[in-house]
Amino acid sequence: MDTIRLKNKLLDKVNEIRYLPITGSTNQDAMDWLIAGAGDGCVVGADEQTAGRGRFDRKWVTLPGSALAFSMVIRPKPEELLYLPLFTPLAGIAVSSAIESLWPVHPLIKWPNDVLLGGKKICGILGELAWDESKLVGLVLGIGVNVSKGAVPPVEQVSFQAGCLEEVLKTEVDRVDFLAQILNEFHRWRAYIGSADFIEYWQDHLAFKNQEVKLVATGGAEVFGRLVGVDKTGELILETDLGETSVQVGDVHLRLRS
Ligand code: BTN
Repeated sequence: MDTIRLKNKLLDKVNEIRYLPITGSTNQDAMDWLIAGAGDGCVVGADEQTAGRGRFDRKWVTLPGSALAFSMVIRPKPEELLYLPLFTPLAGIAVSSAIESLWPVHPLIKWPNDVLLGGKKICGILGELAWDESKLVGLVLGIGVNVSKGAVPPVEQVSFQAGCLEEVLKTEVDRVDFLAQILNEFHRWRAYIGSADFIEYWQDHLAFKNQEVKLVATGGAEVFGRLVGVDKTGELILETDLGETSVQVGDVHLRLRS
């Protein structure tokens, strides 16, 4: 594999990067590329997405010049298969850790993987798996970061308050440098997936710790409790009236109890 550089930053484990001025969804592009044989660590990014997708079948709007929108092709190694549910949190950790390494701020991770800065969501992550019958082909991890104000969706279009990096940092962000940092942090943390250090980083950056929260299932069912933390499998631990309970990543929305 040739060594890849973005500007002057060396990207150690990145296989190939494709950059598109405009596309439908980089997750779709990465998925097609994965199925066509893309190797582990390939990346596709775009300046604008016309059919960007988010969790819970939501739309994710990416306007030109305002955001970072890219997707990674991952072909998990056999020893990583045990940790598949931790790959989207890994992407959240990579974004958080890239931000901390570049600027003096403390991002938080809203379980399972939204990154918050100044209490507002600045980054969303969508992981999608590809199967060939019962055999895993690989996964695609899509990351969308609101960099400047133009990326922030109007209040009526979001279920959690959104913000952008530049608003909090009060400085211009170089998207290419930031992308390079996220990719390097992703591959650095990947080596620790599921380890005590990985869980400790996640716990230290968990939003709403010790606060009263509610989890809302897609069907509308609600669970209330105090947010205790995450366990080593990535499940969220809540202290409810009936005792401690853990919740798997899935179709649940996490909110502060109002
Ligand atoms: C969320 O709902 O919070 C997840 C949003 C994920 C958006 C990113 S932008 C790059 C990639 N391409 C997509 O279509 N979605 C992801």
